[in-house]
Amino acid sequence: MKSVNLTGLLPLALLPFLLSVAQVAANDDAFTPANPPEMKPIASHHTPAYRAAKEFLRGVNLGDYLEVPPQYFGRGVRVSAADIAQIKHEGFDHVRVPIGWQHYADPAPDYTLSPEIFGRVDFIVTNALADGLAVMINIHHFDELDSDPAAATGEFLAIWKQIAAHYEHFSEKLAFELDNEPHDNATTALMNPVYAQTIAEIRQTNPERTIFVEPGGWGVIGELKNLVLPPDKNVIVSVHCYEPFYFTHQGATWTRGLTPVTGIVFPGPPAQPLVPDPKLDLKPAMLDWIHKYNTLPAAQNPSSPRAFTAKLKYIRAWSDYYGRPVHLGEFGAYTKADEQSRANFYSTFRQAAEQENIGWCIWDWIAGFRYWDNQNNRPMPGMHEALFGKSNSNP
Ligand code: BGC
Repeated sequence: MKSVNLTGLLPLALLPFLLSVAQVAANDDAFTPANPPEMKPIASHHTPAYRAAKEFLRGVNLGDYLEVPPQYFGRGVRVSAADIAQIKHEGFDHVRVPIGWQHYADPAPDYTLSPEIFGRVDFIVTNALADGLAVMINIHHFDELDSDPAAATGEFLAIWKQIAAHYEHFSEKLAFELDNEPHDNATTALMNPVYAQTIAEIRQTNPERTIFVEPGGWGVIGELKNLVLPPDKNVIVSVHCYEPFYFTHQGATWTRGLTPVTGIVFPGPPAQPLVPDPKLDLKPAMLDWIHKYNTLPAAQNPSSPRAFTAKLKYIRAWSDYYGRPVHLGEFGAYTKADEQSRANFYSTFRQAAEQENIGWCIWDWIAGFRYWDNQNNRPMPGMHEALFGKSNSNP
């Protein structure tokens, strides 16, 4: 279970951050159906997707492991069979496994995936299933698809065809998530037909498999309104939410300089006003946020549940209207936040998601946003109680 956090090591330009700044300021409109008649609601909520969603209620991302480029594999996070058993023991019911299949594909036209990556994924999948966990495997950080979706769609389909064939006979508790956080040129509108085509391809070999899809704009909730899915009855939608972003990503090195201020607590306001170092030369949006954080009472403070409760309600309303279960595939806070604030945040967010009947999956197990303290073989302080509401049986 030894790991070194690779999150800060990889200058991968991977993350939802530019957009998240927009999210910080975004209004939280109440749900009104925006794209009928393109996507027809599914009237019944007794579909295979709703049944499958019950297996994906409390999850953890095996982040910074199988998605990293091969030259970094094993240099940071390593997930063992003991980790997976511990995940089950803690009370999680599923794992989300980010995977960089594209790093292991031969060139066109076949894009043949190497046995090496199948071996690594099989190890996680078979151990997790054997321990009674549901598993979601995805394609993570497929940068070529984000920059030139038309050019990369052939490879995307070829990869999914091979994954689908390989896992055809696996338990129904294994699900496929088509693409992590499409963004930039991979807009929701552009991904809609790509998803429809990929789902049709997967259905050739896996007629019953649960498939998760994320909207564009880095999988943000605000993009649900642009999603148009085929009438398949076993598709679950997955979204990500890292609000309040200045709290969750404080001190992160991979946000292109957007979140340099540390010492932000959750919930605000702080006991003593936070005075950022003038040398940081902060942008007006962040200065304004800090001013509100320092001065507004708890109910209006930007570092509070106010940052996400309306978004979670929107998810629930969208989901109920369209008859598609929605899953929260990533939320979390970096370990630069103080331990008590992290525990407060995970607890509050988790409960708000459960109140809206939304299954959740934290970022992450033993990387930069870790749940598990693998140096001391126990959960990070307060994390077990935050997620499972009772004290931990493990010392
Ligand atoms: C990325 C991780 C990152 C996390 C939080 C995920 O989508 O894959 O690399 O640490 O978001 O920023």
